[in-house]
Amino acid sequence: MRVVQKEPELRGLVAQARGRGRSVEFVPTMGAFHEGHLELMRQARRHGGLVVVSVFVNPTQFGPDEDFDSYPRSLEADVAAAAGEGVELLFAPTTAQMYPGGQIDTTVDVGPIGRILEGEHRPGHFNGVATVCAKLFNLVRPDRVYLGQKDAQQIAVLSQMNADLNFGLEIVVCATVRDPDGLAMSSRNERLKPEERKAALALSEALMEMARLVDQGETDIQRVLERGHSVIAGQSKVSLQYLEIVDPAHFRSLDRMTGGALAVAAAFVGSVRLIDNVFVGTAQAARTGGWQ
Ligand code: PAJ
Repeated sequence: MRVVQKEPELRGLVAQARGRGRSVEFVPTMGAFHEGHLELMRQARRHGGLVVVSVFVNPTQFGPDEDFDSYPRSLEADVAAAAGEGVELLFAPTTAQMYPGGQIDTTVDVGPIGRILEGEHRPGHFNGVATVCAKLFNLVRPDRVYLGQKDAQQIAVLSQMNADLNFGLEIVVCATVRDPDGLAMSSRNERLKPEERKAALALSEALMEMARLVDQGETDIQRVLERGHSVIAGQSKVSLQYLEIVDPAHFRSLDRMTGGALAVAAAFVGSVRLIDNVFVGTAQAARTGGWQ
């Protein structure tokens, strides 16, 4: 596996693969790999093209009081893990390369979707995500981009950017990888203390319980939300930021169940902020209808 830092080297290796008629499959990440990231790499490999993984902890998607400084960084272990998955090219630019002089003036504004739910609690976050992804997409020029359902609103934001700005990418959504007890894997889980790790489970349990209720025929969204709230209320260490049922394409809150929907939640457990989501209702229809 080649680890490259510089743009010309990256472009050269991608061009070489293209010259051989290979497709380019791209997995953007901020590193600190866990099984969720590795699963994206495995799916990317199935196409037989050049798999490019980027590792860049993007400062512009963190707010001033957020965890940019304490975000886990483990490039050496990440390089070994990606190589173990058969990744051929790992792009790990420096902040100075991505943001010469500390900032760039041209940015992507994702509009209203960037101001609701995650966007409401993390102002500017999605503009930062979209801007760095626009840069990475232009650097790598992939055929397909692999994104995890774990960050569902990010998928909606990047799908919108892909359509609005004509990137022409195919976005492949990979299911959320969970620990055996159900907690969604996240680089931030490393920072949970043992008792917080136990409490964090309330998030996935609440969402799964909501999905079960809908499967049993409940169509009243308020009742479904109440059930979720009651599961989380049982855990004093979990401080809920939001729990909603939304349409997966636009993240607008629904007031009645119409086919597939997404139950989404965010909470602080101690000082660690976690997000999760599950499909409720006709999950398969939502998966293919909402995002592709
Ligand atoms: P990061 O949080 O490192 O996530 C990289 C990719 O891994 C994202 O597509 C995310 O949804 C996926 N992922 C994370 N946890 C997962 C899990 N448990 N199961 C499946 N997939 C999972 O998301 C980002 O980085 C950044 O915002 C980025 C897109 C790289 C832009 O900076």
